[in-house]
Amino acid sequence: MKKQNRRDFIKLSALSAGFLGLSAKKALARDEIHEKLDALTAAPEATGDSVMGLRHAPIEQVRIGIIGVGNRGYGHVKTINALQPKAKIVAICDARESRAKRALERLHTLNGKKEKVKLYYGNEDVWKEMVKQDDIDLVVIVTPAPEHAHMAVYSMQQGKHVVSEVPIAFSIQEAWDLVNTAEKTQKHCMMLENVCYGEEELWILNMVRNNVFGTLTYAEAAYLHPILQKMFIKSNDPKTGAYYKQWRLRLHAERHGNLYPTHGLGPVANYMKVGRGDRFEYLVSMDSVEASLHEYSPHSPQNNDFYDQKYFSHGDMSNSLIKTAKGRSILLQHDVVTPRPYSRINALGGTKAYHEGYPSRLSLYDEDFGHNWLDEKKYKEMREKYQHPIWTKMKKDAEKNGGHGGMDFILFYRLINNLNKGLPMDMDVYDGVSWSVVSPLSKLSVELGSIPVRFPDFTRGEWKNDRELDLFKNI
Ligand SMILES: NC(=O)c1ccc[n+]([C@@H]2O[C@H](COP(=O)([O-])OP(=O)(O)OC[C@H]3O[C@@H](n4cnc5c(N)ncnc54)[C@H](O)[C@@H]3O)[C@@H](O)[C@H]2O)c1
Repeated sequence: MKKQNRRDFIKLSALSAGFLGLSAKKALARDEIHEKLDALTAAPEATGDSVMGLRHAPIEQVRIGIIGVGNRGYGHVKTINALQPKAKIVAICDARESRAKRALERLHTLNGKKEKVKLYYGNEDVWKEMVKQDDIDLVVIVTPAPEHAHMAVYSMQQGKHVVSEVPIAFSIQEAWDLVNTAEKTQKHCMMLENVCYGEEELWILNMVRNNVFGTLTYAEAAYLHPILQKMFIKSNDPKTGAYYKQWRLRLHAERHGNLYPTHGLGPVANYMKVGRGDRFEYLVSMDSVEASLHEYSPHSPQNNDFYDQKYFSHGDMSNSLIKTAKGRSILLQHDVVTPRPYSRINALGGTKAYHEGYPSRLSLYDEDFGHNWLDEKKYKEMREKYQHPIWTKMKKDAEKNGGHGGMDFILFYRLINNLNKGLPMDMDVYDGVSWSVVSPLSKLSVELGSIPVRFPDFTRGEWKNDRELDLFKNI
């Protein structure tokens, strides 16, 4: 009998075994695991028509119902309100009465008058009542991330367009549910990836379109943001910025892989025209050791659920490498616990140029073969020459209304503008799920010893059509 090579076998953790539908602690041949993974990531039969380029009749005033007005949703209330009369908040829902009422109060203050807005609060299911409200065109979901997909699916089933905070899906099944429901109901379903509207990101995108980078070869992107102490806060006081029921920390306790992949990845996907000529093909992921959370835990307030907890699943640094169909590579990182300054890296390499963010620097083949960063004058010239037309048009409004340097305002401006005019969304359901699905795929890869895991093709082959990004249309 042929001697089995130990390296061809992978011992499954209880978690990944469950996910693959196998019994725990069973060693499984690598081939068998790949077969299982391929089945898991294969496309199910379509139940509706593609929603690429989906258009609807213009909506003169977009009537909005918002679910979740905690840290982020409270900010969205102000941003959306600034877009009146093109958009109007008609309903607000939060599981907590105090948050729903605080958001309404904000509307009253901003507009200097009592607004007629329907409030929903009191429990975690009351949002379903709001979504059924007849006079809502668009549901905006700003609840904790694990709630997004099922709320979006239900909203579309109730005949509403829907947008959701990031990430829009946390499992492969959720991602398919979103695609299939959007295709079946023919409703807009967009993820609110605000970073795609950043001034620096859109400038790079415009340079890519004008061939400044030549052939794109690789990118590096990340979410590096030290929020360790904030994740431990257990409080109902909005001033503390505490997350509802410590939901972010809960994810760290339970889950491997990248928990928040889309801020760095969305813009890179646009640079590479993922879904419009290229696609993410597979990834491999590796977590570092976990240390920061359990070392901090005994020093956290004793009233929180994670006081003196010895074990957290998520390593301090999560690394993924993504390969695209065109052979490009993307390093994607997630670290919210190490004491280091905020960064999304935003690095992009091509045959003629290279960019790196934090701080933004550019080098060009035509200038010294790229040995040096452009000096201040030349960098400024490039910024001016290739400023994205959205920013040329919107800079003043973006600066006035703010939100992460104005990108939040531009995101909502474009969303509402496109609905007002009956245009397709800048980002469709396929974009949202392709970027978000990194979370469950990286989890699987980590739990299976960093093996390659293929991305499902949510577009069912349509990614091969080289299309212009909507971010360059109708400006
Ligand atoms: N795009 C960005 O830059 C950005 C920035 C911060 C947060 N986010 C995303 O925004 C979302 C919200 O984050 P946050 O920091 O505001 O969290 P948060 O905990 O402060 O707010 C969530 C709110 O949802 C409410 N809620 C929870 N379950 C609910 C339910 N079933 N029904 C109704 N309301 C419910 C909570 O009461 C809370 O007020 C997350 O998905 C996060 O990833 C995005």
